[in-house]
Amino acid sequence: MDQLIAPTVAGALLVALVIALVGMTSVGCRKVTTEIAAGSTTEPSAETSAITSAKTSVGVSLVPADLGRPHSLPLPSSLSVAEYERHLFEFLNRREYKTLGWIPDKRVRDTGPYIKGKYYGTHPAVSIFYSPEIVRWLQGGKLHAIPNGAMIVKEQYEPPAARYAGLDEDKLFEQLSSWTVMVKDAAGSHDGWFWSNPAKDQKVVDNHQYPFDHPISGFGIYCVRCHASTRTVGETNEYTFAALRNIQGFPGEPLLFRVDDSWRKVVDHQQPATADTPTDDNSGENTDENTDESNEYLLTAKLKTSDRLDTSPLQ
Ligand code: HEC
Repeated sequence: MDQLIAPTVAGALLVALVIALVGMTSVGCRKVTTEIAAGSTTEPSAETSAITSAKTSVGVSLVPADLGRPHSLPLPSSLSVAEYERHLFEFLNRREYKTLGWIPDKRVRDTGPYIKGKYYGTHPAVSIFYSPEIVRWLQGGKLHAIPNGAMIVKEQYEPPAARYAGLDEDKLFEQLSSWTVMVKDAAGSHDGWFWSNPAKDQKVVDNHQYPFDHPISGFGIYCVRCHASTRTVGETNEYTFAALRNIQGFPGEPLLFRVDDSWRKVVDHQQPATADTPTDDNSGENTDENTDESNEYLLTAKLKTSDRLDTSPLQ
């Protein structure tokens, strides 16, 4: 009898265990689902709700009706580079493109993968604003030349874009590190674009003096070496990768890149690592602190090095 009961009790216990495990798993799932649903319904902007409801009722995405107003800056070819920079840098630092109602990208996005503390993007994390002529050109299938004065303003943030999830507009702008900007001006050069890469609060720089740094702005500068690869065919001759899928209110999803979790570690330990940097007193010495080989230190150091060496021209 005992021999019969023992396996039955063991079997019952096993069944109970399986039921308990299944129960726990489905509770877990339900919780996650609720969180995702809550996350996706918090504070939709008026524009997003309008677009979403249009989507559900007619089955197509509505494009934004208002593309914003054109700017009133002079054309770059009408001034010296330094004089034009003065206008442009002020326009950027006041974030006038936003005041003018230019349509931005859907969110801050990466332009390449971020793996083991190193970023492989062509630009940092970016959020782009487009002057109305650019959006109209994209909507029209890129068939005609972009009119002079049209502008693409790219806000740049330290990668990866995941750092900025959930930040409101003002908090995000506080984190901005620089811009890259393209201004259409066919009279200025063969490719027809003026290029600029100022940091936040950038001062106008005269690059014709020692140490003859590479220019921050100009026609035909190094930006063309990549952008020429996207030159549009036929007579339009435009050097932009811009695509409607990136832009708020248009269908499609921007390109996604693989981003691992190493950036979280760098952020967590940024404070101690900074405290380890040499002071004036010991800067000449190779102290233990400077050569700390701990994982945290290396990750931070790698990020700093890669910022400086690999992506600094575009930061
Ligand atoms: C290493 C190659 C490379 C260099 C150098 C480069 N770019 Fe780009 N740029 C790209 C790529 C690729 C994109 C598209 C990225 C995306 O949207 O994912 C891009 C996008 C942009 C955009 C957004 C509009 C567009 O064409 O998609 C602007 C504005 C821009 N770059 C400005 C500049 C400026 C100004 C410089 C020089 C200071 C520069 N770029 C140098 C590769 C480059």
